[in-house]
Amino acid sequence: MELVVQPLGRSLAVKAGDNLLEVLQENGIPVSYSCRAGRCGTCRCKVIEGKVLESAGDAKITNPGEGNHVLACMSVLTENCVVEIPEPDEIVAHPARILRASVAAIEDLTHDIKRLVLKSPKPLSFSPGQYAILQFTPEHIRPYSMAGLPEDDTLEFHIRYVPNGRVTGYVFKELKVGDPVRVSGPMGTAYLRKKHEGPVLCIAGGTGLAPVLSIVRSATAMKMTNPIHLYFGVRSSADIYGQDWLKQLSEINPNLHVQVVIATNEPGAAHRVGLVTDSVSKDWKDLRDWRAYLCGAPPMVEAATLIAKSKGIAMEHIYADAFYASA
Ligand code: FES
Repeated sequence: MELVVQPLGRSLAVKAGDNLLEVLQENGIPVSYSCRAGRCGTCRCKVIEGKVLESAGDAKITNPGEGNHVLACMSVLTENCVVEIPEPDEIVAHPARILRASVAAIEDLTHDIKRLVLKSPKPLSFSPGQYAILQFTPEHIRPYSMAGLPEDDTLEFHIRYVPNGRVTGYVFKELKVGDPVRVSGPMGTAYLRKKHEGPVLCIAGGTGLAPVLSIVRSATAMKMTNPIHLYFGVRSSADIYGQDWLKQLSEINPNLHVQVVIATNEPGAAHRVGLVTDSVSKDWKDLRDWRAYLCGAPPMVEAATLIAKSKGIAMEHIYADAFYASA
């Protein structure tokens, strides 16, 4: 049987029953992965011809992929086929790890968002924009995105309280400095593409600012010169946070342009009003050759994906992780 890997044009001899991720790795094909268990979505590939047998996995991310995408780690080869791996020169491979961390700080960012800082005896290797699963107790487990730099010696997360939420209720009312937290990851495909030299569009809704901050902080630390247009959408002015960090980043990085957009019209509001996606749509006609990072609630991510696509960004250059409102 033959497996052809595009865009490399490599032809591999394979057997029925081979695992797609293992075949790619055994043959030295660069492919991103982390969990190897269908959870993180990092190993997503596109099947162009033929079929593979994919078990369901439990990836929770929404990626704006089109066509026949599969998780390579969960896919078994059954016939000749052609697969396309994403961006072979932008591979990330951070084998999934479980860290025993503890709470170093927990503080208010807004009336319903907390900044959680964890320290761990060992670092978590991740790419800016990825997320991890935090287990506070055996019953209190949720995914959250890292907001800091991979080289920081702590991990930073932004957690929004969900009314009557079991996990966020625990975090807001019971979690305290010194408590243990198990961290599993990294996960996610909406990580910073470091080789791209053109403009970057970041759209963050609410605590979707966390992964976007990680991306912007890293791009700034690496002295990337890409113009970065960051749109931060919130419900009201009470939900705005992170302005000091963004101001500091803008002072260091003259290529960073930040717009805050408030959904509700407030008398005397100092920011743009409306849907964050409408602001993007008004500001830009043609986004060809841009990259887009979209992070927030699913409806925002879906609307932003449509706008990015309609303005000319190729689907394979739209990177999105939607935050589901797990409580
Ligand atoms: Fe395949 Fe995580 S490595 S889904």
